[in-house]
Amino acid sequence: MRLVATATIQPGDILGQTIHRDNGTILLHNGVPLTKRLIERLEEQGITYVYIEDEETKDIDIEPAISERLRQDATSSMKKLFGNIQQSKLKANTSVIADETRNLSDIISRIMGEIDSHEESISLLTDIYLTDDYIFQHSLNVAIYSLAIGAQLKLNAKELSELGKGAILHDIGKLFIDPDIVQKPDQLTDEEYEMMKTHTTLGYDYLRKNRHYSSVIAHCAFQHHERINGTGYPRGLKGSEIHLFAQIIGAADVFDAVTSNRVYRKAMLPHEGLELLYSSAVNQFDIRIIEAFKNSVAVYPNGISVELNDNRQGVVLKQNKHICDRPVVRILKERGQKVEPYTIDLSKQLNVIITKCNLV
Ligand SMILES: [Fe+2]
Repeated sequence: MRLVATATIQPGDILGQTIHRDNGTILLHNGVPLTKRLIERLEEQGITYVYIEDEETKDIDIEPAISERLRQDATSSMKKLFGNIQQSKLKANTSVIADETRNLSDIISRIMGEIDSHEESISLLTDIYLTDDYIFQHSLNVAIYSLAIGAQLKLNAKELSELGKGAILHDIGKLFIDPDIVQKPDQLTDEEYEMMKTHTTLGYDYLRKNRHYSSVIAHCAFQHHERINGTGYPRGLKGSEIHLFAQIIGAADVFDAVTSNRVYRKAMLPHEGLELLYSSAVNQFDIRIIEAFKNSVAVYPNGISVELNDNRQGVVLKQNKHICDRPVVRILKERGQKVEPYTIDLSKQLNVIITKCNLV
């Protein structure tokens, strides 16, 4: 499979990955030949890139970050939990919420199990979903990334469980804000932005009142927009005043926001999202968190076209799990000329680097 920009797909190209709706139903099945209408529909839905089948890359596999079954179970648990939170609001200690919180612990340990069993570094590019309600997929993605970072930082099982719950619930305060503001696709006005920022304190207040959640989980909601240089909100905390878990969730939040497909802007590719984090790392994020992130996500996902510093071009074939920016590449061209395909492992050829990443 090859990763291509939706804008470059030709009618007749074969879709390489199934595209789901978030209720588990299938929008488009893999193997479907794409028509002009279907391509337009993908673009209308804000899907920036997709995998297509292609003769030169047909043996390149992609592994979803988490299984389809787990994604559906997690989404349905979150829908129930968030729905109840929204309704009960102040009467937080209901037994329903206790049950659903237990479900959440179960979901977190299943995510950890799946991340651990992966042979490759994780990539969420394969998990393309059409969702009416972005909060579920975003919260789940932030949890997946946060747990991957937490595992890299050698947190123990109990800490990872708290971090995972904090990540799933980090934006819970948005449930108490006018949905017209939360879901507004355009730029927010200053007044709306101020309102939106209150999701941190609203989430904290809700979680603090609820005996099913620890103080750390409440602080994840409270502090995930704080930045180590003091430019964040709501309190402008600095450095270690911000809980480590909130810092991890903050970085995962930014990365998922910029690399996700949204109707109103193009999704960045993983290496662009990481560059963005690096460029702000000195000021906004702890560099150890960004390094841990780089060591757990596929910087150049399988199937993406790359150019090397020695004028060779190819496609990423597979990942080296703990050297995520040095994958195995299948070379297809040298100095612009097609060659008999062969592979090179960038983890073994340290003088060769990726200089460009294309969606062709
Ligand atoms: Fe947030």
